[in-house]
Amino acid sequence: MRQSLVIGNWKMHGSRASVASLLEGLLGAEPASGVEVAVCPTYLHLDQVLQGCAGSGISVGAQDCSHAQSGAYTGEVAAEMLADIGCTWVILGHSERRQYHAETDALVGAKLSAAIEAGLKPVLCVGETRQQREGGEANAVVAAQLAGALADQAQLDGLVIAYEPVWAIGTGLTATPEQAQEMHAFIRGELAQAAGVDAQKTRILYGGSVKPGNAAELFDCADIDGALVGGAALVAEDFMSIAGAAIG
Ligand code: PGA
Repeated sequence: MRQSLVIGNWKMHGSRASVASLLEGLLGAEPASGVEVAVCPTYLHLDQVLQGCAGSGISVGAQDCSHAQSGAYTGEVAAEMLADIGCTWVILGHSERRQYHAETDALVGAKLSAAIEAGLKPVLCVGETRQQREGGEANAVVAAQLAGALADQAQLDGLVIAYEPVWAIGTGLTATPEQAQEMHAFIRGELAQAAGVDAQKTRILYGGSVKPGNAAELFDCADIDGALVGGAALVAEDFMSIAGAAIG
């Protein structure tokens, strides 16, 4: 049995004041039992969120990390630094990183190694564009993203995959439960063939316009183990309602 996991990806949003009020909402809400909950603010707000969430059961992660351990990498943050301040998670290979920062599967793979070595739990994002789906290439694209990042990893315990169809991110368009389940089952099949991964134990999250109104039907699917939530994670009530739907 895989424990449900719901992660909020706050992207490039927030000020000290708005983060404080979001935290107040999250911590004041009924805690979702039976589901693991995490939030990923900007690097700048990590410390504030780590302090706010201490002892709450909500764990904290970053939205990216460097592939390198330390050195002359201006603007980068190492996985080790994130672990050192108390982060649990790191999101890697998000489609916005692939699109705006030209991240390749090889670079995402190097970040994955760095994260695992630092003791962080990586959330590896994969997903096809609308054009790729319409061209019948969705499975091939996702398989290549998985193979590219997972190749040559020494160990992958605790790996989490997030399937986020690019056409569903921030667009209000959600994959239907059938489309999502089909891809999640495909991903689990691919993981079963990857070295060092226990496919049955690996949690596969869905991401892309998850809201309180569509979360339950997605979570009902056999291979959907939770969600990576963007926009709705900025509204405490919506995020906790999504987490609540993931119980069981
Ligand atoms: P969204 O973003 O929920 O706003 O679609 C999801 C994500 O990008 O992780």
